Amino acid sequence: MAADTATTGTPAGARAPRQAPAMDLAELIADRQTRIVVCCGAGGVGKTTTSAALALAAAEAGRTVVVLTIDPARRLAQSLGLTELDNEPRKVDISGGAATGAPGELHAMMLDMKRTFDDVVTAHSTPERAQQILDNPFYQALSSSFAGTQEYMAMEKLGQLRASDQWDLIIVDTPPSRSALDFLDAPNRMGRFLDGTMIRLLMAPSRTGFKFASAGFLFFSRIISKILGGQLLRDISAFVAALDTMFGGFRERATATFELLRRPGTWFVVVAAPEPDALREASYFVDRLSAEGMPLAGLVVNRTHPPATTALSATRAEGAAEEVAESGDDGAALAAAALRVHAERMQQATREQHLADRFTSAHPDVALRTVPATAGDVHDLEGLRMMAAALTGPDHDTPTGTPRTRVLPARRG
Ligand SMILES: Nc1ncnc2c1ncn2[C@@H]1O[C@H](COP(=O)(O)OP(=O)(O)OP(=O)(O)O)[C@@H](O)[C@H]1O
Ligand SMILES: [Mg+2]
Repeated sequence: MAADTATTGTPAGARAPRQAPAMDLAELIADRQTRIVVCCGAGGVGKTTTSAALALAAAEAGRTVVVLTIDPARRLAQSLGLTELDNEPRKVDISGGAATGAPGELHAMMLDMKRTFDDVVTAHSTPERAQQILDNPFYQALSSSFAGTQEYMAMEKLGQLRASDQWDLIIVDTPPSRSALDFLDAPNRMGRFLDGTMIRLLMAPSRTGFKFASAGFLFFSRIISKILGGQLLRDISAFVAALDTMFGGFRERATATFELLRRPGTWFVVVAAPEPDALREASYFVDRLSAEGMPLAGLVVNRTHPPATTALSATRAEGAAEEVAESGDDGAALAAAALRVHAERMQQATREQHLADRFTSAHPDVALRTVPATAGDVHDLEGLRMMAAALTGPDHDTPTGTPRTRVLPARRG
């Protein structure tokens, strides 16, 4: 049967959408120059799974890899041997795989945000001072729940892993934020907060013995005390004063970790679902990376729904379903149902292709790769291997013959 061209969501006569360049993740992770890969994206799109799958593929390609996961689903964590939060990488047994050549090593860890923060404090102060900070109620609240702390600590941990030089590739998952941009914004936001004007103002009286505090400031400070409570204010002041003497400002630290991401050898992989919101997020993020001068490997459109065949369009499948159903023959109901399922899948794939094409027309140079949804979730090494094959396999070697840059085959001509 001839391929029906009314399947790609392109109106007849319109120019076929530009095809996204293919993303070669196999080469990227095998390249010894690649030292850090950061997987970013909107909430729930598959950042953690993509990170773990890429890490496994890199280890099977011979590299010594550590994957820093954040809040992995319980079953995935278990299959990576992460049964408790211990904030240190654990070696994963990957011996069951079909790795060719010299196998590498896979280590996995879950970020323990509070432990990472505690370690920073301990490493940068005297034992008494560290204890003072660790016991401070404001510190306790900040280290476990302040928005942005998780992103900041992910960067902090990345810095530590990179400094240890024990791994030749670090794959970083990012926190389940509402927006992918939070990852780039949070360290600065937190730096500004801890280092910022309000905190300095709050601290001014204790530092200068009220000498320079204006009447206006005292009034302001009293109001804040009233709202926040005097004790909390004292806790904050004591905490920030202690931190400040410790390592000369969070902002500088945030800048340093940020710079790490700009160094050669770091790549960002943006993950999105084939849905308008996730792809819009991905667009913002891609623009931001480019504005910040950070290298983008490309976009992974995860959990697509390519149909089993594109030889039969949705319209023709619907028509055929009706005809078959009307015939009333034996098995007609079943055949009609199968045709309708196919029609639905074609419609869904067409929608997904349309969204991917829209992204590509806005970002024609961004390489793209689609990863089909598997029947169940991805929670064991076998599932990760299947996902890794979709991420790193050759562009044209798919069961449906559809290039991995697309959900549906491109229109010919
Ligand atoms: N290609 C896929 N096919 C089927 N299921 C998938 C696929 N990719 C991811 N999943 C499943 O989707 C769920 C969400 O994935 P994951 O936890 O990796 O997303 P995330 O972006 O890290 O989410 P969060 O923002 O909450 O951290 C998981 O249950 C995972 O197993
Ligand atoms: Mg996650």
